[in-house]
Amino acid sequence: MKKVLFVASECVPFVKTGGLADVVGSLPKNLDKNKFDTRVILPQYQCMKEKYKERLKSVCYFQMDNRIYVGINTLVEDGITYYFVDNNQYFSGSKPYFDLFSDLERFAYFSKAVLSALPLIGFRPDIIHAHDWQAALVPVYLNTVFQGDPFFQGIRTIMTIHNIRFQGCWNVGHLRWVTGLPSECFQPGKLVSPYQDTSLPWDEWNATMLRGGIVYSDWVTTVSESYAYEIQTPAFSDGLDDILKWRRERLMGIVNGIDCQVWNPKTDQFIAKNYDVRNFWNSKKENKLELQKRFNLPQNGDIFTLAIVSRLTDQKGLDLVDGIMDELARRNINLIVLGSGDQRYENMFRYFSSKYPNKISAKIGYDEELSHLIYAGCDACLVPSAFEPCGLTQLIALRYGSLPIVHEIGGLKDTVKPYNQYEGTGTGFSFQGYSSSELLDRINHAEWLYRENTNEWKAMAKRAMKEDWSWTNSSKKYEGLYDSL
Ligand code: ADP
Ligand code: GLC
Repeated sequence: MKKVLFVASECVPFVKTGGLADVVGSLPKNLDKNKFDTRVILPQYQCMKEKYKERLKSVCYFQMDNRIYVGINTLVEDGITYYFVDNNQYFSGSKPYFDLFSDLERFAYFSKAVLSALPLIGFRPDIIHAHDWQAALVPVYLNTVFQGDPFFQGIRTIMTIHNIRFQGCWNVGHLRWVTGLPSECFQPGKLVSPYQDTSLPWDEWNATMLRGGIVYSDWVTTVSESYAYEIQTPAFSDGLDDILKWRRERLMGIVNGIDCQVWNPKTDQFIAKNYDVRNFWNSKKENKLELQKRFNLPQNGDIFTLAIVSRLTDQKGLDLVDGIMDELARRNINLIVLGSGDQRYENMFRYFSSKYPNKISAKIGYDEELSHLIYAGCDACLVPSAFEPCGLTQLIALRYGSLPIVHEIGGLKDTVKPYNQYEGTGTGFSFQGYSSSELLDRINHAEWLYRENTNEWKAMAKRAMKEDWSWTNSSKKYEGLYDSL
């Protein structure tokens, strides 16, 4: 039995800001339990739900480097053992992330605390699977500071990139100070890019934690095949293409799955009317009526309803949506939005909701339960992202028979098959050029099909619902990778 430890900064059901939490929460449950003992370690945020905090049991506590407190607590949920790194000074507050400057210190502490705790928790992993920049220093510490300790010898590491935009980047001086890593780590080619402005003093060079994770881990994965290719190019790599190209023999894209127990229109408790592929058409209309009620829109089950469930950031292509809002409002359609994030986009959706109260309605905030009703009640989901490592919203939409309209990029390209009217294939609509006009063109096509060729629409929704986006296939790929290490 191989032992695998996931290290991450968020995980459903304890804390979530985006898809990372969904993946860390669902992949371990889907790995073969006869072959892998998979556990997860997370920061113990004060903002974690009370019902989980009450169940925590202490495993150990100690002073790391003789000066900083580390407590390890644990609970078992749904058959998976979770460990939590406790330190009030670092993980108090109302949310998991604050400003980058202080987050760097928090997650450097977290990564080192994870390794320091391993000899004391009675679980020595064969493989450490680190997720995103917040855990990226684990492979770095392991192969430097902890290298001499026989306990750690032979532990293999995987670094998974969920979003290369976030890297944990600051200058060498600050990162040396918060990480305590030896200066060899800050040589060009390690945490520091080989292309530095050498006229600047070394302390002012840029260093990134994610680069360190990529350099020091045994394997690097990311969350779709297309994104694995894209991040080797300057346009998508945010400055890391050199190292990813260099490591390409050890770089693999594995598309995410979704938790099909949580996301199941047949059993979903948060929707008005459960359904499956046989009765989705009428049932989705009932969900639409409830959705319209919740969003204060006139109730009409036949209105073509578009939805966006998203973090409201530049990544998500909302500038394209901005460009077509007035045009959309001229049609007999609904646009429903659930999201939070950048002020600019929050205000944009607030503005258009008040301008067109009978057509457009936005709720600014995070609401897991409501998101279920949206996926069930809308007809199509907009995901026009500028870049998208994988994307889970389009996968959930497919499962709920709501057709995705997407920019053909990253994981969106790998998971949504564009509608082909001649062959009668496809599960959604996609556009290649990143522009408002192309997005509008695809929406027009979708709306036309929904109204004028309803049987084709229904056939496509059925194809979408029948696809398997559970973890069944992708977990096998992770298992293969774990076996190969
Ligand atoms: P990302 O991780 O880049 O935010 P993903 O598509 O991978 O994008 O995952 C987003 C996840 O977060 C999905 O499960 C989606 O339903 C959920 N989500 C995003 N915004 C909200 C919100 N405002 N309320 C509820 N769920 C949300
Ligand atoms: C990131 C990406 C998203 C991906 C998620 C889970 O947040 O933006 O595309 O689905 O991680 O891997």
